[in-house]
Parts: sequence; structure tokens; C-alpha cells
Amino acid sequence: MMIGLIGCGTVGRGLLELLTEKSTVLARKYNFKPTIVAISDPKVGSIYSKEGLDVKEILSLLEKDGNIKNYRGVVTGWDSIKTIKESNADTIVEATSTNLETGEPGLTFIRTALKNGKNVATTNKGPIALAYRELRNLALSNECELRFEGSVLAGTPVINLFQSTLRGIEIKEVRGILNGTTNYILTKMESGMSYKEALKEAKEKGYAEAKSDVDVKGWDAVAKIIIIANVLMEGNVNIIEVERRGIDSISEEEFQRALKDNKHWKLIARAKRVDGKIKASVVPEALPDHDLLSKITGVTNAINFKTDVLGDVTISGPGAGRRETGFALLSDLIDINSRKEGKCQP
Ligand code: HSE
Repeated sequence: MMIGLIGCGTVGRGLLELLTEKSTVLARKYNFKPTIVAISDPKVGSIYSKEGLDVKEILSLLEKDGNIKNYRGVVTGWDSIKTIKESNADTIVEATSTNLETGEPGLTFIRTALKNGKNVATTNKGPIALAYRELRNLALSNECELRFEGSVLAGTPVINLFQSTLRGIEIKEVRGILNGTTNYILTKMESGMSYKEALKEAKEKGYAEAKSDVDVKGWDAVAKIIIIANVLMEGNVNIIEVERRGIDSISEEEFQRALKDNKHWKLIARAKRVDGKIKASVVPEALPDHDLLSKITGVTNAINFKTDVLGDVTISGPGAGRRETGFALLSDLIDINSRKEGKCQP
């Protein structure tokens, strides 16, 4: 598999680290021997070599300089569109930052890759939340894979679990904590840290979005519940239809009262089929101590699915983080490779 990496921030770097660390086991167990042929990122730099790049050297440059501009002996300066269209990558990893208003620039990158017959693995919520059906149809008509496990709970399996192992199950209702940053902030606030300090820590740890309002005002969780509703529940939910309130709507008094009553504030995302249509919301709730979701702390996320055959299925695990999200890309890539051996085939 020849990979072009579009966006080399926190998540892209997480993927590069995992590819290096796990290269021996990936080759032995899964016959997965990927070659990174291109990286394109407006801040970090753009490099391309059709024979492949040295990932260890890239990681060391990123560590030392914060960019890859001193990588020598390769083509430089290609923008992302040129990289997608003209490089010999057969698979594009799209890991640019989320934009929930237009999906851009990730949406154009994904469209371009699929139109050019290239598989896509992305962690970007914007394009999937805003244009899943269009992108899925593009992937189908161009006989390519479109994978986006990391758009919901980082590397904790949700999408691929229901699209492979649990095929045939009907999801009737979903309720969960889908944003790591806000859960981290709420947990830290319970132990006395200020909102500001907790948000600063979440940013430092690489959990928060580039614009942290996307997390605290609930937009990130809205995108994720839309992805679950539209991909796993065959919904057609639009972002403006989702009832939304962020954790910034919780007053100090409400927060303290919950603590006294042994309740825990959580940002709860829900989706439920009502009269054939899916109703979704993201709203903070003070959960009683006996509620399973009240026990989910820090950057951990959890989702409870009510299903027709298995009843309750609950998944919990990290919902953000460099390696945790990088792993989602890795698992998508291994899967694409084993299905298609890196080629874009039906
Ligand atoms: N900002 C997101 C979160 C990152 O905190 O959950 C993972 O989608």
C-alpha cells in the first residue's frame, strides 16, 4: 500500500509513530507493509518520493524542528490536491482539522481522492457528518474504500464494529459520552480544578479541537452523533436538526448542587428512532451515581447501544489523543489492505 498523508498534525504523527513501532508485527501478522510516499501539510511542509519516505527521519525532524522542511532529496512543495492527484499513493490518509460548517478543506481532499480512484482513511468528522451519503456513493462508484473509524471514538471501535462484526443488528437507540475534552474538563472540575485550567490541560494533551469552542459548545459531539445516526442507523440527520447545548451552559451553582446530590455532569449525546425519523441531541445532564455513564471519567468516552438482537451493547474507551486516534487510522489501513491488498478493486 502506498500512502499519501494529508495533514500531519497530532493525529498524523500518531499514525507515523505506530507504523514505525509496529512495522515488524504488522508485516508478520497481517502482511501489511505500507510505504508513506507523500506528506502534505501547509504548516509542517510537503514532501514526496515515489519510492517512499523514511518515517523515522520524519519523526525525528518533527521532534527536533516541528516541521519536515529539512528532509532532503525529495520533491517538495506540492499542495494537498496535487499530492492526492499526482502522487503514486493508492490510499490517502486525510487527517486535517475538523470544520463543521463546510467540512473544508478535508471534504474537497476526500472527494478528490475518491474521484481519482484512491482509498481514503480519515479521522475528520466534518466531511463525514456533512456529506456521508455523497462520499459513500463516490467511493462505491469509484470502487474505493472510505473508512472513518477515528471520526467517532478515536481508536475505540464503533463504526467498524457495527459495519463488520455486528452486521445485521438493528440499533434502536444510542446514548453516550462522545467528547473527550468536555468529559476531561468536567472530571477535573469535580476534583476542584478551574474550568480554564482543565481546558488548558485538555489542549496540552492534544484532546481539544483547534478551536476548542467546537468541543465545549457541543459541536464535536453533534458531529459524532450524526455520524452514528447516518452511518449505523440509516438516518439522514442534518446538523441544524440536532438539539445542542454545551458544557458552558452549566452554571457554577448547578455544578455545585450536583456535587452535593452525588450527581455527575456529563455531556450526553442521544439518537433515537421516532416515527421512522431519527431524533438526535447533545445536552449536558447531571447523572445520578447509579447511572453507568456517570462513572466514565477523564478523556474516556462510552456509548450504550440498544439493539434488537443483543439488547444493550456498551463500548467504552479513549475518545481522543494522538496515538489513540492514530490507531483508528492504522486499523482502517490494515483492513483496507487485507480486503484489497492496497489496490482499488471492487
Ligand atoms: N476534540 C475531540 C474530543 C477529539 O475531545 O473528543 C476527538 O474527536
